[in-house]
Amino acid sequence: MEQEVERYRKPTRILHWVHAGAFTVLFLTGLVLFIPPLGFLAQDSWTRVIHRIAAVIFIVAPLIYMPLNWKATWRGIKDALSWGMDDIGWLIAAPGYYFLADEEAMPPQEHMNTGQKMWWLMVIVFGLVFVATGLIMWAAKTVAPAELLRWMVLIHDIAFIATGAMFFVHIYLSVIHPLMRPLRVGAWSSMARGKVSVHYAKSHHAKWYDKISKGEET
Ligand code: HEM
Ligand code: HEM
Repeated sequence: MEQEVERYRKPTRILHWVHAGAFTVLFLTGLVLFIPPLGFLAQDSWTRVIHRIAAVIFIVAPLIYMPLNWKATWRGIKDALSWGMDDIGWLIAAPGYYFLADEEAMPPQEHMNTGQKMWWLMVIVFGLVFVATGLIMWAAKTVAPAELLRWMVLIHDIAFIATGAMFFVHIYLSVIHPLMRPLRVGAWSSMARGKVSVHYAKSHHAKWYDKISKGEET
């Protein structure tokens, strides 16, 4: 049995999957509203109702998680905002790493690599954009000026296109890409079971592994 280290605790994993589920439903019901030929699916407005139910879950889940897991929340925000020379190195080495499996040029990474930091930042920024524009469209549809509502739809759509594209990149890089395997002890396992093998931690997050093995971090 390979030695393993903990990467994500249970509350973080629960938040991730609840949020991922809500996002997927928002994405699919949003798509029905976004692509006119799919409009027939929105007849009777059931997709709009489902969009709103998923939006409530999307908003409430982190609001419950954050105060109960303040340390992990703060650490995630701090990590995503901490950039250094190794992040520049990651950006330069990433094409060779992901397309040609050239691991030599890839600098050692912390608990989150640079790509993960960028996804984290996108989720925070566009998450807030979705909530603000979505709630205005929902609550003020009959009272807000038409011009304002048009802007809200446009900004909501830009967030949809940006996060929608990255959503597929996120799934590909965290589950399908050969370098993130094996599934049982690699990236998938970190979010499914909370653990990765020591070998995976060393090869993908060497700086973090160094710190946890010295007891400087969990
Ligand atoms: C998180 C809070 C969110 C709220 C409160 C919200 C709310 C809304 C509302 C009220 C509408 C207008 C629906 C109608 O015409 O009746 C809408 C449309 C839409 N939403 Fe959301 N939404 C949220 C998140 C999301 C997310 C995460 C996505 C996609 C990933 C998304 C994608 C869309 C799309 C594509 C439309 C159609 C806009 C158009 O007509 O071009 N929404 N949303
Ligand atoms: C439904 C499909 C999804 C799958 C299969 C998936 C899978 C994963 C996996 C396996 C990881 C761990 C990666 C690692 O630590 O090496 C992860 C991390 C993460 N996921 Fe997801 N995820 C999905 C959807 C989402 C959505 C919709 C969001 C945002 C709303 C999201 C946000 C994150 C964040 C912030 C992390 C931590 C940083 C990172 O590793 O990128 N995920 N996801």
